[in-house]
Amino acid sequence: MDYIEIKRRSSITRKILLVAVVTVLFIFMVKRPSSISGSTKFSQHESGVTHVLVTGGAGYIGSHAVLRLLKDSYRVTIVDNLSRGNMGAVRILQGLYPEPGRLQFIYADLGDAAAVNKIFSENAFDAVMHFAAVAYVGESTAEPLRYYHNITSNTLLVVKAMAAHGVKTLIYSSTCATYGEPDKMPITENTPQVPINPYGKAKKMAEDIIIDFSKTSNMAVMILRYFNVIGSDPEGRLGEAPRPELREQGRISGACFDAARGIIAGLKVRGTDYKTRDGTCIRDYIDVTDLIDAHVKALAHATPKKVGIYNVGTGKGSSVNEFVEACKKATGVNIKVDYLSRRPGDYAEVFSDPSKILKELNWTAKYTNLQQSLRVAWRWQKAHLNGYD
Ligand SMILES: NC(=O)c1ccc[n+]([C@@H]2O[C@H](COP(=O)([O-])OP(=O)(O)OC[C@H]3O[C@@H](n4cnc5c(N)ncnc54)[C@H](O)[C@@H]3O)[C@@H](O)[C@H]2O)c1
Ligand SMILES: *[C@@H]1O[C@H](CO)[C@@H](O)[C@H](O)[C@H]1NC(C)=O
Ligand SMILES: *[C@@H]1O[C@H](CO)[C@@H](O)[C@H](O)[C@H]1NC(C)=O
Ligand SMILES: *[C@@H]1O[C@H](CO)[C@@H](O)[C@H](O)[C@H]1NC(C)=O
Repeated sequence: MDYIEIKRRSSITRKILLVAVVTVLFIFMVKRPSSISGSTKFSQHESGVTHVLVTGGAGYIGSHAVLRLLKDSYRVTIVDNLSRGNMGAVRILQGLYPEPGRLQFIYADLGDAAAVNKIFSENAFDAVMHFAAVAYVGESTAEPLRYYHNITSNTLLVVKAMAAHGVKTLIYSSTCATYGEPDKMPITENTPQVPINPYGKAKKMAEDIIIDFSKTSNMAVMILRYFNVIGSDPEGRLGEAPRPELREQGRISGACFDAARGIIAGLKVRGTDYKTRDGTCIRDYIDVTDLIDAHVKALAHATPKKVGIYNVGTGKGSSVNEFVEACKKATGVNIKVDYLSRRPGDYAEVFSDPSKILKELNWTAKYTNLQQSLRVAWRWQKAHLNGYD
């Protein structure tokens, strides 16, 4: 009896020990991927891997940039506070690239200096693509402080953090709105910048901060001045999904799709008496896929102690009437159009001279068929009637 009792006890002890060992091992294994192979991939530089911080990566253009960077084997950290971006876009990107060390999302406000510094001290970035901003001309006139805060002041914080943590390459999202109303077309990079609204002024100030700082450092800077961005991922994984409350501020492509869906009654064309070929305003529409390609080329060509400034457009203007016709064909909907008088602050004609970026970065727009770009964007819109939700 005694002998059996002892044997049983020792077998219980053995079982308890085994369970304890397995538990410890399990805890160790579960913790390991996140602490060793996971987060340190982001916190340490790795030769052959370029780690790009994409601010505003949950937004329209930023999310498309992240998709391309991941496809090209970059390591990406998104920082976004989702004030205007979509977590749905981030989830799609995470689903496409789930491997550890490819993509991480950090929820933070770029206006929070302590948060920004913490992010820079915990991550080893090689470059920054700074997309995060507020970006509606009309809203900027109504709420200028929102623009100077979230564009100029936040860019200052990002540049300071880069300087403090030795991050050497910056690709900055600027805009043709920094040129204002030049009297000579097309717009070259030497066209004087005389912005006429707080959005353009805030972006111009941010450019100035970056340029002045770069003269005192060995930072490699590329400033890209985009014209009117349209389109979405040709494979239909991402799209443009602005907050419903921003519809009023909206850009022409969003308004066109809303009209095609019957969310709004029709399109309002403001101004038919401009000195243009059909009386409506002329703009230079650049497809987001081309725009992102310009960013990747800019990143590859960024040189320490140099600032490259480039217009990113097609060099070809389309009138609002031409845009509306392309939109009707792309959606197959005979959108109702109301012709109204001019909106204050609109200028007749804006288009780029993109020859500098062709010469220096070998970049040129390829998706230049308006109808085709709108068809791609419309396909996503139709499949996502509630955006990313
Ligand atoms: N869309 C265009 O036609 C156009 C033209 C010229 C320049 N740009 C520039 O391109 C950039 C991207 O524009 P978009 O159209 O993708 O806009 P978007 O609103 O879709 O994206 C901006 C992103 O930045 C984030 N963000 C804003 N403030 C933030 C903050 N304080 N902290 C953290 N995240 C913040 C938003 O949540 C959003 O996800 C902007 O800098 C814009 O000025 C856009
Ligand atoms: C996003 O950042 C702005 C400051 O730029 C802040 O005022 C706002 O509350 C933030 N929004 C969210 C959802 O965190
Ligand atoms: C921008 O800045 C203002 C403060 O001026 C803040 O109230 C707002 O929430 C900020 N963020 C956005 C996305 O507008
Ligand atoms: C420029 O780009 C084109 C493709 O757009 C490519 O065929 C060509 O080889 C490139 N030229 C140089 C000098 O890199």
